[in-house]
Amino acid sequence: MSYAIIGFGNIGRALAKAFARKGIEVSVATTRDPESFAADAAAIGPKVIAKTLAEAVKADIIFLAVRFEQHPDVAKALLTWQGKTIVDVTNAYGVSPEQLGGQPSSKVVGQAFSGARLVKGFNHLAAAVLAQDPAVQGGRRVVFLASDDDVAAAEVGALAERLGFAPIQLGRLSEGGLLVHAHGKSWGHLIFKDLVKFE
Ligand SMILES: NC(=O)c1ccc[n+]([C@@H]2O[C@H](COP(=O)([O-])OP(=O)(O)OC[C@H]3O[C@@H](n4cnc5c(N)ncnc54)[C@H](OP(=O)(O)O)[C@@H]3O)[C@@H](O)[C@H]2O)c1
Repeated sequence: MSYAIIGFGNIGRALAKAFARKGIEVSVATTRDPESFAADAAAIGPKVIAKTLAEAVKADIIFLAVRFEQHPDVAKALLTWQGKTIVDVTNAYGVSPEQLGGQPSSKVVGQAFSGARLVKGFNHLAAAVLAQDPAVQGGRRVVFLASDDDVAAAEVGALAERLGFAPIQLGRLSEGGLLVHAHGKSWGHLIFKDLVKFE
């Protein structure tokens, strides 16, 4: 299984730190020449590899860590996303419900990445919190996952566990997933709730 993070801003770097902490290789890509941020990536960890977008999207599981408005540009990188799992980390705060066609933003993202299996997740915490070690006082920091695809949700849940988080499955995008969606001036009720799970 191979991993990539598209976007190397606040959230992309926070995710890269989580992979580096566990020594798991991950590609990172932006619109820029990878040489321009290769040193920044290597500073996070030796297995954080800067690549072009075209190279990075060869990964099996791809974290989408760009602004919501930028997702259609990333989606153009492949004609079909069949066989890929997209983890949608975007928050559509400031995007009107009309622009989203009344749907949760991840449904809109899923339509752009045609053929992909989509999981909403890792999006409810501020980047500075997500960047921290998820091992907290003997517990593990919670990440919420929502998907219309149970297999993909389980796959990303297993990855979240490997990264040291405690994943909580919320169910479908239009059901439990609404708790971690934003639109207009409204945040889902679980967004910014930094929770730690004790076994
Ligand atoms: N910041 C937070 O605390 C936070 C928390 C939860 C969720 N989120 C969500 O996470 C997403 C990213 O937020 P952020 O704060 O990390 O934003 P950011 O700091 O502005 O980073 C965005 C990244 O996306 C890259 N990018 C833009 N267009 C691209 C394209 N077409 N292809 C590849 N890369 C592209 C940018 O690289 P270049 O422009 O340099 O190419 C940049 O590295 C947003 O949807 C946000 O809602 C953010």
